[in-house]
Amino acid sequence: MRSHYCGQVTEALLDQDVTLCGWAHRRRDHGGVIFIDLRDREGLVQVVIDPDMPDAFAAAERARNEFVLRVIGRVRHRPEGTENPNLATGAVEVLAREVEILNRADPLPFQLDDEDTSEEVRLRYRYLDLRRPVMQERLRLRTRVISTLRRFLDQHGFLDIETPMLTKATPEGARDYLVPSRTHPGSFFALPQSPQLFKQLLMMAGMDRYYQVVRCFRDEDLRADRQPEFTQLDIETSFMDEQAITDLLEEMIRALFKEVLEVDLPDPFPRMPYETAMQRYGSDKPDLRIPLELTDLSDLMADVDFKVFAAAAQDPLGRVAALRVPDGGRLTRREIDVYTEFVGRYGAKGLAYIKVNDAAAGREGLQAPIVKFLPDAVLAKILTRTGAENGDLIFFGADAAKVVNDALGALRLRVGHDLGLINSAWAPLWVVNFPMFEWDEQERRWNALHHPFTAPRTDDPAEVRANPERCLSRAYDMVLNGTELGGGSVRIHRQEMQSTVFELLGIGPEEARTKFGFLLDALKYGCPPHGGLAFGLDRLVMLMVGASSIRDVMAFPKTQSAACLLTQAPAPVTEAQLRELNIRLRRAP
Ligand code: AMO
Ligand code: AMP
Repeated sequence: MRSHYCGQVTEALLDQDVTLCGWAHRRRDHGGVIFIDLRDREGLVQVVIDPDMPDAFAAAERARNEFVLRVIGRVRHRPEGTENPNLATGAVEVLAREVEILNRADPLPFQLDDEDTSEEVRLRYRYLDLRRPVMQERLRLRTRVISTLRRFLDQHGFLDIETPMLTKATPEGARDYLVPSRTHPGSFFALPQSPQLFKQLLMMAGMDRYYQVVRCFRDEDLRADRQPEFTQLDIETSFMDEQAITDLLEEMIRALFKEVLEVDLPDPFPRMPYETAMQRYGSDKPDLRIPLELTDLSDLMADVDFKVFAAAAQDPLGRVAALRVPDGGRLTRREIDVYTEFVGRYGAKGLAYIKVNDAAAGREGLQAPIVKFLPDAVLAKILTRTGAENGDLIFFGADAAKVVNDALGALRLRVGHDLGLINSAWAPLWVVNFPMFEWDEQERRWNALHHPFTAPRTDDPAEVRANPERCLSRAYDMVLNGTELGGGSVRIHRQEMQSTVFELLGIGPEEARTKFGFLLDALKYGCPPHGGLAFGLDRLVMLMVGASSIRDVMAFPKTQSAACLLTQAPAPVTEAQLRELNIRLRRAP
């Protein structure tokens, strides 16, 4: 059928015959001669059809954009001055001897190279959208990423083991997708939010090292880096502690970047305690490409006359912090208003600021309405702590610590991008020393910061019970350029500790038995110390190809409202199907 891909026709094939198959990307009729750019997965090549080949010419006359063609012809140099240096095949063209129309195409609903096509249309006709070279390039890189990772894990003795899709709920913090059982009326399977429990059971089964490229399902609010079904590279090992696990996994990511992108990532990756990340970046996934940092001022503000600051400083759950913007003095009133509106989206009630005109001149050199509320000593400390220099601007946040961290953390990213402060291409790190638990004020109970199977630092259940708020976990997250690429932990491997943690999380013995009885049982029969991690594969590929959404690196993603525009799923089913499943829908009266 074909001798070469279109994109492979270069000067190396001069004067040879080639047989090509592909799509008519563009057809130009130059009165007497027809040019067709023929496109396939590997690229484009120009085909010339002369009228002195009457059959080929007649077929070319009938061809339209996106017709599927088979072309036989001879490779020749393009005439002087008509070469296209932007194209791998740009020095040559194929003089056609035969043109066969393999299939026709209706006019497309959108032009493939029209940058303005809405994502809705692109998703509706995804098979056309995927014809675009940029999409083909992304999916091709995704393949390389997966095969490189598999090779690494194979070489390191990991076994690729599949786990069930029809299973029981795994708590990863989202809602479950449920599947009704026909054979057990009223009972449901849950699609896995992750294979977490199965991979732990595989360690208990003595598999020692496991991995899987696996689909996970989570019914949660979607964003650019969240899909209802997504792919994890899921990993678990036995008899390795957190240092050994993170060392091995960062070696894997370094090898991946080297092989696929020819990029040298730092060795080792920096490690940052969770506490430091929150203090300095307001986030547990700091983007270290941006050199801006938050500075804590809570201890300075308890007695100042500016009530907003004093109140937040006195509140044990409050925080007052500053964000120094080098050279930010040139921000206009309007720009500051836009930032004030921006932090409002994160709950901030305002965005106080000081412009540093002349740091040496004391309060005279500082410009802002709030300066009059702050004593000289406090102003001086603000300047030294933030390291502000003449021409800088300092933003302030005062509120519940969560609001300040969210607002200034987001502002830090926004200002960093707006002012072009990004100072490196790749900034990976490990975030470590996470708290075990997080207090949920609304529900008035502890939540697991990671998941309920993560081991605490201490081996003593009594200590966990006594001081849950001070308890640190053995969890670690890998962060790249401000995106959480993966998360994992060393797991609880003793039943008593697992029961204690369930209890603290408000999962009573009975509920623990119904939900996780199989795990509690398995912990009794010789469970090895074990731990692991899962990478978000879509996020990893998204970063590697420079896409802004994981939708751009998935062949058939869903929309923001968790629907598939191509197949129109989810869709109603017949009454008969529902009856079979023992499901009755309530009808509107
Ligand atoms: P976690 O819930 O942190 O951990 O998930 C691991 C990684 O999966 C990616 N991810 C997602 N990607 C796209 N869309 C989503 N909705 C989505 N949710 C998560 C992220 C995240 O870092 N079982 C544990 C892992 C372990 O402890 O070994 C787990 O699933 O990149
Ligand atoms: P006001 O006294 O409300 O006019 O506020 C004075 C300045 O403080 C304005 O620039 C406000 O944007 C800012 N501001 C008000 N509330 C907060 C807050 N919670 N955190 C930071 N700045 C604030």
